[in-house]
Amino acid sequence: MRGCPPVTGGEGGREGRLSGRQRPLVDTLSRWVEIPSVSTDPEHAQDVAASARFLRDHALSSGMTRAEVWETAGHPAVFAERIEDPALPTVLIYGHHDVQPVDPVEEWDAAPFVPLERDGQLLGRGTADDKGHMVMHLEAVRGILDAAGHLPLNLKMIVEGEEEDGSEHFDQLVAEHRGDLAADVCVVSDTGMLAEDQPALTVGLRGLAYWEIEVRAAQTDLHSGVYGGAVLNPLAVLADLLAGLHDRQGRVTVVGFYDQVTELTAEERSQLAAVPFDEAGFIADVGAVQGGEAGYTTMERRTVRPTLEICGAWGGYQGEGAKTVIPARAGAKLSSRLVPHQLAPQVTEVVERHLRGALPPGVELDFRLIHDGPFVLTPTDHPAVRLAARAVESVWGRPPAYIREGGSIPPVATLAGELQLPCVLFGVGLPGDRIHAPNERVVLGQLFRGMEAVAEMWRLFAEAGRSGLSR
Ligand code: BES
Ligand code: ZN
Repeated sequence: MRGCPPVTGGEGGREGRLSGRQRPLVDTLSRWVEIPSVSTDPEHAQDVAASARFLRDHALSSGMTRAEVWETAGHPAVFAERIEDPALPTVLIYGHHDVQPVDPVEEWDAAPFVPLERDGQLLGRGTADDKGHMVMHLEAVRGILDAAGHLPLNLKMIVEGEEEDGSEHFDQLVAEHRGDLAADVCVVSDTGMLAEDQPALTVGLRGLAYWEIEVRAAQTDLHSGVYGGAVLNPLAVLADLLAGLHDRQGRVTVVGFYDQVTELTAEERSQLAAVPFDEAGFIADVGAVQGGEAGYTTMERRTVRPTLEICGAWGGYQGEGAKTVIPARAGAKLSSRLVPHQLAPQVTEVVERHLRGALPPGVELDFRLIHDGPFVLTPTDHPAVRLAARAVESVWGRPPAYIREGGSIPPVATLAGELQLPCVLFGVGLPGDRIHAPNERVVLGQLFRGMEAVAEMWRLFAEAGRSGLSR
C-alpha cells in the first residue's frame, strides 16, 4: 500500500488515536454479523428484529444516551442519539442493519454468518454492507468518550432495517419522527472508496426502478409433442422481449428511455477520466466479460449512464432430466439504474409501453413495479463535504477523489429532500468487498482508518459550528 500512514500503534499521531478501539470493533462486528438479518426473506424477520435490538444495546453501551428500536410496518429501524449541547452542530448518521441473502451459499469459503478473520479482513454477510460502518461510528464514539468524556457535537443515528429490500417504510418513518431526526448534516455511511490508498467521497448515486414481468400464453402447461409447433411458447416470447431491450451498440432500445438523461459535459467527462480507476482491472478482477454502451468508458457506464438489466428469468421445467412441456408462463426481473434527471415513474411508463408494444397478439403481460428510488447528487462545494474531505486526507494522507457510484441508496433522497439535510457520503468499502455476493468481506484497516476519520470529521464540524456548516 502506498501513501497511507499506519493505522496501528500511532504513538502521538492522530491516525492512531483510537487504536485501542480496533479489537472491540472487530469483536462487536463479529457478534452482530452472526445475526442473519436478511430483510428480503420473511423467514428471517425475527433475525432482523434481533439485529435491531443488538444495535440498540450496543449503541447504549457505546455512550449514546438514548437508543430505541423504531417499529415500521416492515422491519424495525434503530434510532440513537447523544445530545451534548443544543447549541452545537448535530450530525445524523445513516446506515442499515439488514443484509442481502447469501445464496449461492456453497460458494462461500466459510459460513456466511460465522465471521472469519483472515489476512486483515473480516469475511461474512454484512461486514462491509453495512454493519461494519455502523460499528465504526459507535467505536469512534466510545473512544472519544473514553479520552475526553464528551463528544464535540451532538450525534444521532438512524439505522434502517429495510434498505436492501427497497426502504419501503423509510419515508413514513421520517415523517413520523421529523423532530427526532432534525440535524445540521447527514453522514451516510454505506458506500466505498477506489482503493486502500485512494480514498474517495461519493457525491452521486444512481436511482433504481425494479420490475417483475410475466408473460402468459396458455391456461396450462402443454405437452410439447401434442401442441408443439402449433402454439406460441411464452419462454420464446420472453426471450425475444428481453433480447430486444438493447441494440448491438448496447443502447437501450426503449423509446423515451434516454429522454430525461442529462448528457455529461466535456469537462465532466474529463473529470471522471482523471479519477484513478483501473478500467480493465475492474472487469478482469471478477472474471467478467466487458459489455455496455458503445462510446462510453467503463467508469461512465457504471456510474453516470443509465442501465436496463435483466436480474433474473424463469419459466418451464427446471428439474432433473427432461420433461417435454411447453410452459404456460415465463417471467423475469428487470431493473434500471437511473441517472440525473431520470425519474422512476416516467421510465416505468416507457418500459411498460415498449414491452406491451412488442408483445405478439393474444399473449398477456403482467408488469409490476417492485421498488424504486431516486438518483442522488450532493453538492461538492458544500462546507460539510469540504470538511469531510479534510478529515479523510488527514487520515489517508491524500485528498479523497469525488466519485459517483453506480449503486443506489433510496433513503438519501428522503434525508436530503424531506429533512433538507446536506448529505456527506462517507464509506470505507472497497471494490473487492463482494457486497451482495459470496465471500463478502471488509478490510479491517479501512474500518480503523474510517473510525479515525469520523472522529476528525466531528471535530472539524464542531469547529465550524452550526453556521459554518450551512450555506
Ligand atoms: N450499499 C449499497 C449501495 C452501494 C453499492 C453504494 C455500491 C455504493 C456502491 C446498498 O446497500 C444497496 O445495495 N442498495 C441497493 C438498493 C436497492 C435494493 C433498492 C442497490 O443498490 O441495489
Ligand atoms: Zn448498503
